[in-house]
Amino acid sequence: SGKPVVILGVFVADTAYRAARQPRMGETLLGSGFKLGPGGKGSNQSVAAGRLGADVTFITRLGRDPFADMAKATWRDAGVKAAVIETPESYTGAAYIFVEETTGNNAIIVSPGAAGLISADDIEDNAELIRSAGVFVTQLEQPIPAALRALEIARKAGVVTILNPAPAAALPESVFGLCDYVTPNETETEELTGIRVESVEDARRAADALLQRGVGAALITLGERGALLHTRNGSEMIPAYVAGPVAETTGAGDAFNGGFAAALSRGYEPVEAVRFACAVAGISVTRPGTAPSMPTLSEVEALLAR
Ligand code: RIB
Ligand code: NA
Repeated sequence: SGKPVVILGVFVADTAYRAARQPRMGETLLGSGFKLGPGGKGSNQSVAAGRLGADVTFITRLGRDPFADMAKATWRDAGVKAAVIETPESYTGAAYIFVEETTGNNAIIVSPGAAGLISADDIEDNAELIRSAGVFVTQLEQPIPAALRALEIARKAGVVTILNPAPAAALPESVFGLCDYVTPNETETEELTGIRVESVEDARRAADALLQRGVGAALITLGERGALLHTRNGSEMIPAYVAGPVAETTGAGDAFNGGFAAALSRGYEPVEAVRFACAVAGISVTRPGTAPSMPTLSEVEALLAR
């Protein structure tokens, strides 16, 4: 199981609506499918790492309601330990996911609810847990001051830090120097650097800009092209894995980040960890749902050996 992985973030219930297109303002549209399931980037990443056998603890806030029960059952099944701050005055969040019938592409609204109240003080209360990690991961669905404080604590303790800057947000410049890895997708890369990513060359330029701002390594995910790992020692493009026909791409980034954290915790070298993460994501997109589509270690090893 390797070194402990600690992940900060949000759980929400994913409510996925399948339809030909999105409704216009004032319009009611009939959809062709609906699915309720566990989601939220941090929780999905925890589930991915947990299913891969990593020793994972997830820090978050939950309300006291049926979606909180769904969260706890999801983590139990995936072997994820949880450091939950109970927040009965709020609600457990939900995400509206529009899934386009023809392409499987998605558009999402996340209302984090209780997890939107995670504070820097909550992080102080979990400082020992964070210090005990081998790898720490956060995204940006919960408030940024909490992410910042956690990255500071982790960095100071020598924990490997991963910032998945999703959804894209304006960040204080000081955050970059706290990150061993920053893992944006194309649009998040553009938000962070102002560089539009259409080619691998664009991604390299953006990655250079991130290194100049202080990150240890830029790991830019490029959808079906794969991922670019860019460090001071060099740059490597790792191709995506095609494990089968695509069912739903929502959560692929979470599969990638959870897989990457799990691989680092197992002691993989960075390039091998990225390859592993690409395989995890490659399997997740062949299945519907986000957390429910995360593969097991043996499934990933079988794909890598193919
Ligand atoms: O990254 C995918 C996730 O983003 C979904 O599970 C949804 O909940 C949103 O938070
Ligand atoms: Na999926």
